[in-house]
Amino acid sequence: MTKSKIGGIAYYVPERAVTNHDLEKVMDTSDEWIQERTGIVERRYGVKHKETTSTMGARAAEKAIERAGISKEEVDFIIFATLSPDYYFPGCGVLLQRELGITKTEIGALDVRNQCSGFIYGLSIADQFVKSGMYKNVLLVGAEMHSMGLDFSTQGRNVTVIFGDGAGAAVIQPTEEEGEGILTTKLHSDGTYAEKLAFINPGSHGGYHFDKMGEEVDFGFSDAEFGEIFMNQHMVENGQIYPNMEGQHVFKMAVQKFPQVIMEALGAVGMATTDIDMLIPHQANLRISKFVQKVLKLQDDQVWNNIQKFGNTTAASVPIALCEAVEAGAVKKGDLVCLAAFGSGFTWGSALIRW
Ligand code: UT7
Repeated sequence: MTKSKIGGIAYYVPERAVTNHDLEKVMDTSDEWIQERTGIVERRYGVKHKETTSTMGARAAEKAIERAGISKEEVDFIIFATLSPDYYFPGCGVLLQRELGITKTEIGALDVRNQCSGFIYGLSIADQFVKSGMYKNVLLVGAEMHSMGLDFSTQGRNVTVIFGDGAGAAVIQPTEEEGEGILTTKLHSDGTYAEKLAFINPGSHGGYHFDKMGEEVDFGFSDAEFGEIFMNQHMVENGQIYPNMEGQHVFKMAVQKFPQVIMEALGAVGMATTDIDMLIPHQANLRISKFVQKVLKLQDDQVWNNIQKFGNTTAASVPIALCEAVEAGAVKKGDLVCLAAFGSGFTWGSALIRW
């Protein structure tokens, strides 16, 4: 039976490294706090007015296409995962297509809005397309330019210090080789706590939303302040146009869901944690990765972490980390690689790949 595999993988991060000490200059934070709570030492920021989420994605994609041994014109579908798109609409998929100069082929482009687990959702979609025979070369990109949409005042410090910019790309292709390829993917979501990690404005909500328990979600506005509009001055003046996060709530969910979804994937193919050669967790927080490692009883050289130098790059973090591990020779042919992510939505997922 035809399976799909990652035929080429690459990443791109902007040159400019922003250290914790750099952030200390603009907000009330400290290198000590950031390292202790997150593991992050520095992150990259793209060049304003020169780089965007889709152009960074394109740089990674060009390399992934080359490594997959195909030409740009042979890509027959694009999937682009991001939470920090160039525009509210259209999505980054078509912008990437234009940036790559492959508009003549008029291939489809799909945008995935699943935040930290966007790459794994995209991988699962690509896997189905390739296995079914519909497409042969699916270009999957996860990219973020967080630095353009963060609150650099002390009010935004719990979110801002975590995120970094970057892009990862992979070409998903068919394989007939025994044992090789994507073995399974598992996807989940639960919208009960959608606003616990969210970028709410601008949006069509107009102050309206109820959670699963029937409780009205508190946006911190009065009806008068909201008006009827999509975005108003109050939101701008009060910093309500930035991402917000209840960090501890997200943390507690993440440490439950990561091991659960990894065990689910292993169970589906009759394997155990002892079969994993390399775990590539979404780089949310080094403490989360260490916790998951401990629960799964993995050694340090079985878990890839690079949040220290890139921060949390959301949809880009899994492909960047996977590519780095492959380039470092830490993932070799025949290895069992496990990808896992959890984030805003909440959405989470895992994938098992025989490399
Ligand atoms: O990738 C998407 C999914 N996201 C995640 O998985 C993130 C999960 N959550 C986390 O990683 C952690 O919750 C954070 C790193 C965001 C925060 O760490 P924490 O240990 O949960 O801190 P906290 O939010 O409970 O805040 C503790 C204290 C507070 O001060 P008080 O109220 O105790 O005086 C915060 O105001 O730390 C303060 N604080 C900071 N201090 C210095 C929050 N952010 C900062 C900061 N610098 N950047």
